Amino acid sequence: MRIAVLVSGSGTNLQAIIDAGLPVSVVLSDRPDVVALDRANRAGIPTVVVDRNQWMPDREKFTQAVIDALVPFSIDLIALAGFMTILSAGFIDVYPGRVVNTHPSLLPAFKGAHAVRDALAAGVPETGCTIHYVVPEVDAGPIIEQVVVPVEADDTEDTLTERIKAAEQLVYPRVLARLIAERTASDPTVGG
Ligand code: GRF
Repeated sequence: MRIAVLVSGSGTNLQAIIDAGLPVSVVLSDRPDVVALDRANRAGIPTVVVDRNQWMPDREKFTQAVIDALVPFSIDLIALAGFMTILSAGFIDVYPGRVVNTHPSLLPAFKGAHAVRDALAAGVPETGCTIHYVVPEVDAGPIIEQVVVPVEADDTEDTLTERIKAAEQLVYPRVLARLIAERTASDPTVGG
């Protein structure tokens, strides 16, 4: 079973996935010079950069470049972990039912790139994180697991983000480990 983790930033979720001993075969970033790539390098995991600036706004071409970059790694499962470029539907066609994401809200509440800010602005008493399958519509795929995180009265976007990320770092590796175990059990051609 071979996982690709797609990142754009600090890579704390990637680190949790690595620390859980999950079989990460490649880390792909949509931009150079991010801490997530350092984390992969330190763990001896191959890295690939498909620079969004080289392709965007042509989302189809960017997505095709990501697909092409992953081919040599024979990937079974894709984990988006803070990946900040929306992939076009063709990506899901290549990896049907095999792309998962972590989103920092209790979906379907607060979809999109500013979920923590939006939850704070809405004044909700609790928010959280959602691990879900990726479908073409952003943040709308089947939910796999959610964790509730309280919003404190004095929270800023930063403090709330950190509390949610701590929850993600616990639940995301656990969910991925379960998916790998299920898929390995149901497909005898997939190695452990
Ligand atoms: C996570 O909170 C994720 O839900 C959001 O971006 C953050 C990524 O953090 N989309 P990191 O790069 O894993 O530290």
